[in-house]
Amino acid sequence: MNSDLKSFIEKYKAKLESELALEVTKLNAPSSLKEAMNYSLQAGGKRIRPILLFATLQSFGKDPLDGLKAALALEMIHTYSLIHDDLPSMDDDDLRRGRPTNHKVYGEAIAILAGDGLLTYSFQQLSQMKLINLEARMNLIELFAKAAGPEGMVGGQTSDMLGEGRALSLEELESIHVRKTGRLLACGVRAGAILSQANEGQLDLLDTYAHHLGLAFQIQDDILDIEGNQALMGKPLGSDIVNDKSTYPALLTLSGAKKKLSYHLNEAKTALLKAGFNTTLLMEIVDVIGTRDH
Ligand code: IPE
Ligand code: IPE
Ligand code: MG
Ligand code: MG
Ligand code: MG
Repeated sequence: MNSDLKSFIEKYKAKLESELALEVTKLNAPSSLKEAMNYSLQAGGKRIRPILLFATLQSFGKDPLDGLKAALALEMIHTYSLIHDDLPSMDDDDLRRGRPTNHKVYGEAIAILAGDGLLTYSFQQLSQMKLINLEARMNLIELFAKAAGPEGMVGGQTSDMLGEGRALSLEELESIHVRKTGRLLACGVRAGAILSQANEGQLDLLDTYAHHLGLAFQIQDDILDIEGNQALMGKPLGSDIVNDKSTYPALLTLSGAKKKLSYHLNEAKTALLKAGFNTTLLMEIVDVIGTRDH
């Protein structure tokens, strides 16, 4: 990884993680709930969604920390989605981010509530954004709600669950991947662009970038579920096969999935070529996602 991107990631990841801990500490809530929320938040994810948000702000020459509240919200929503995704009634996984899953440690009831707490607290974070006018704040809240909710992640997770044991078409699978994973990644990019007062043309090309990047991210996740290294991944491999999920490798074979992965990575880069602003970091993130091993 390029050293500028590496130090950018290290710097903003550290800030994000300390702020996440602080926000949970502040809560006037049952200590077992706070502990369960904090357990999953601090388990050491890659923080790719907040990094995309920070990198988009940087591309427009803004201070990445202008997006801190939005970045906290994104990581809270993402972490909640993982806690619920791992529940016995969903993917039934015992390991996440290298540690026992939330429900394994705190029990299902507290894990569900920790997820609920993270989701609602994320919108409290968004309501506290100070740097933008009321209209922009409302736009951002709507963006997050759509990306996380029935039209986005929750809808995608629903179709993913309903699709277990059935052979889906590539079109159906692409729609699941875009919604369950793509929309939240794209939300980070678009939030960064809105906070940077990007114009319509810039928003459009960044949406195209993020659409392909999000899809590539989940295709890579499917591939790694088969041929990743469990110690690096920090989650059980083979979960998709056990749950009889439709995935890109299941539908297209591993080599077919890898072709789709490179196609979407290329499309993401092509979109950026048309941008009239500094897209160095966003371009490098494409390579990081394309070569990730966890
Ligand atoms: C895992 O997301 C679930 C998917 C949407 C593919 P990440 O791969 O971003 O997980 P963490 O946050 O790094 O643990
Ligand atoms: C999950 O997809 C997407 C989410 C919204 C959490 P997966 O079920 O493939 O994610 P992992 O592999 O468990 O991280
Ligand atoms: Mg799942
Ligand atoms: Mg899962
Ligand atoms: Mg997976």
